[in-house]
Amino acid sequence: MVQKKDQKIAALVVAAGSGSRMGGSSPKQYLQIQGKSMLEHSVAALLAEPRIEELAIVVSPADILGQHLHFDDPRVKVARVGGNSRSDSVRNGLAFSALAQDDWVLVHDAARPCLLTSDVTKLIDHCLATDHGAILAVPVNDTLKKTLDGSGIEKTVSRDNLWCAQTPQCFKNGELLKALANPSEKPTDEASAMEAAGHLVDIVKGTPTNIKVTHPMDFWMAKAIFQYRTQGEIRGSH
Ligand code: C5P
Repeated sequence: MVQKKDQKIAALVVAAGSGSRMGGSSPKQYLQIQGKSMLEHSVAALLAEPRIEELAIVVSPADILGQHLHFDDPRVKVARVGGNSRSDSVRNGLAFSALAQDDWVLVHDAARPCLLTSDVTKLIDHCLATDHGAILAVPVNDTLKKTLDGSGIEKTVSRDNLWCAQTPQCFKNGELLKALANPSEKPTDEASAMEAAGHLVDIVKGTPTNIKVTHPMDFWMAKAIFQYRTQGEIRGSH
């Protein structure tokens, strides 16, 4: 299976969260790493994949900085349609993008600036080859404990076959819209809505450095990852 004629590949970058766990006076996606905001890094990693024909950034209508975003690349549009939850932001962003049912859409967190374009390429290749949706993920390395009350351990959970979901997550636009229309619970990623709707979702092994910046410590780690890459040690491979 290859990309069908008239079948577009688009991206949606969600950047409408409050970022309350980061603290700080402006939304976390505007924090700078090496002279660019995290949002710009996330967008650049996607745009470097030439098959992505258009990209919409979802910001909150209340985001003042979001009003002044400018990207030279004509593929980029800013949608000031962020919602109360991540899935609301995704749904509103998909409505804004007005893609065809059969188009592919890669949904990505603005808060994952360390994304590698090589992983985006792998994900798109997989979806086109199999004709169904997939996400980037990495295997769980730590031993997992389930607690009773947040402190005492109830049991150890086997980490066999457990993965940490990342973004981008790539699905057919029509199927994703339907899955997000009536989710039973607020999904924290698109894959969970697709799974609940009965779709098979594949995993494409990603890279552990594609971290989500949630807490201040994550931001320092993201900076360190960029610094390491610009030193030329592992560019394009980690
Ligand atoms: O809150 P969390 O870190 O899980 O958010 C993941 C991504 O979803 C972030 O890039 C954030 O800006 C986005 N988001 C959104 N709309 C919301 C909540 C989160 O676009 N209402």
